[in-house]
Amino acid sequence: MLVVAAALVDADNRVLIAQRPEGKQLAGLWEFPGGKLDPGERPEDALARELEEELGVRVCTPCLAPLTFASHAYDDFHLLMPLYVCRKWEGIISPTEGQAVKWARARDLRNYPMPPADAPLIGPLIDLLG
Ligand code: C5P
Repeated sequence: MLVVAAALVDADNRVLIAQRPEGKQLAGLWEFPGGKLDPGERPEDALARELEEELGVRVCTPCLAPLTFASHAYDDFHLLMPLYVCRKWEGIISPTEGQAVKWARARDLRNYPMPPADAPLIGPLIDLLG
């Protein structure tokens, strides 16, 4: 399964994480926002769509800079998840699915319980953002 994710980074170098809502798999864990590709969809387009659907912000695909990726074996599928850094968006972050969101320093991200696929993405973010 291919899932795309974003590290939205604010002017203060903090990263946005979102809590997976009740009723979803891995509910309550903090993740980098994103989601699955629709059939035939480009990863960057999928990420722009997901960010608009989940957070009400618009990003332009050239503003999505690939940073690293996660490759994680869940029990029932293998997840490949590219992580893009994005510092520019239009609109105000407004979670549309009732999910909690938080701006966190990269070095503090380990304090938030995350899905096992997301945790290895923290190291490259600390390298980038301190
Ligand atoms: O978000 P969604 O439920 O569509 O993602 C599909 C699956 O990908 C999740 O059930 C989860 O196992 C995995 N995932 C993840 N980390 C994310 C997003 C999704 O491990 N940031």
